[in-house]
Amino acid sequence: MSIAAAARVGDPVAATATPALVVDLDALERNIERMAAFARQHRMRLRPHAKTHKCAEIARRQVAAGAVGVCVQKTSEALALAGAGVGDIYVSNEVIDEARLRELAALAGRVKLSIAVDSALGVDRLATALKAAGTSADVYVEVDVGHGRCGVAPAAAVALAHQVVSHGLRFAGLQAYHGRAQHLRTPAERESAIRHAVSLARAAQASVTSAGIACPLVTGAGTGTFVLEAASGLYGELQAGSYVFMDRDYADNHATPHAPVFEHALFLKSQVMSAGSSHVVVDAGHKSHAIDSGLPRVHGHDVEFVNGGDEHGILRKRGSAPLPALGETVWLIPGHCDPTVNLHEHYIAVRGGLEAGRVEAVWPIEARGCIR
Ligand SMILES: Cc1ncc(COP(=O)(O)O)c(C=O)c1O
Repeated sequence: MSIAAAARVGDPVAATATPALVVDLDALERNIERMAAFARQHRMRLRPHAKTHKCAEIARRQVAAGAVGVCVQKTSEALALAGAGVGDIYVSNEVIDEARLRELAALAGRVKLSIAVDSALGVDRLATALKAAGTSADVYVEVDVGHGRCGVAPAAAVALAHQVVSHGLRFAGLQAYHGRAQHLRTPAERESAIRHAVSLARAAQASVTSAGIACPLVTGAGTGTFVLEAASGLYGELQAGSYVFMDRDYADNHATPHAPVFEHALFLKSQVMSAGSSHVVVDAGHKSHAIDSGLPRVHGHDVEFVNGGDEHGILRKRGSAPLPALGETVWLIPGHCDPTVNLHEHYIAVRGGLEAGRVEAVWPIEARGCIR
């Protein structure tokens, strides 16, 4: 089915074919403004992660609200969003492949580009690619602050910063992102993880500056912990991404006191296609929503979602509340927003709520499938 047939601008959302990835525009706009206001109040730069939404229209709205630009993880994401008009992109990830680095170096001639490094080979290859293209990029040295993924130990940051500078590249600062801290459930657990992350990032910054190299910025943080990085006095830029949509996994975190509250803005519209005596079946399985972080929550119904396979979801009673009826629309809140988005070509952007709203726009997900 073509997208035109699946959803037409102006139609009631009730007419949208299922399953469909629907954005509640009113909630999305409130989320974008709440995070922008937080960054303004704390005098921090906001560079939201576009790995969440992969969409130039949402990136533009974040920038219009005050973001300096966006982060991406992949070269192909950067190319797709730049091609759709996004002008300030940070690849907050290591790129070691020479062909990808050549693509990024060429891109740096068209947009303001930044990139993370965590190896001497990575810095050398980046410098070679930029020199050949005659372009420049801001370079951040990534420090492993507890995630145990990419990044160097704090004491090793100075050698890489030195190498960046000696290649004539701009050392823009440190990346210190602690991914595993984001979904620690209690505020106390997250606070303890980020306290440790901050001490490691501070040590890295001290070793760089004591070698006489200016460290203009520490960048990092996600939706689960940005309040803590902001309070540290060390970080100057926030990279949170999921706050625009808020998935079920984030909603399962126990709230950080006094933190801005974000609303669910991303839903999978489905409908009941079969009804048994003890369960009903909706027309959305894990080909339309990612299950790596657990199953979706059913919005507005006290029922359990059980994995029904590729194209089906099974709803079972939890208490005395009735199951939705055959043909009824059921709104699912995906377990994990980023890989769910990656399964879809378009967002159906709805104004006026999920029940009575109308389709205001259909947005392409330009960086869908961009995994290189
Ligand atoms: C480097 C980096 N920064 C920021 C984020 C954004 O985190 P979140 O979507 O949890 O807000 C991520 C997410 O994986 C990331 O890898």
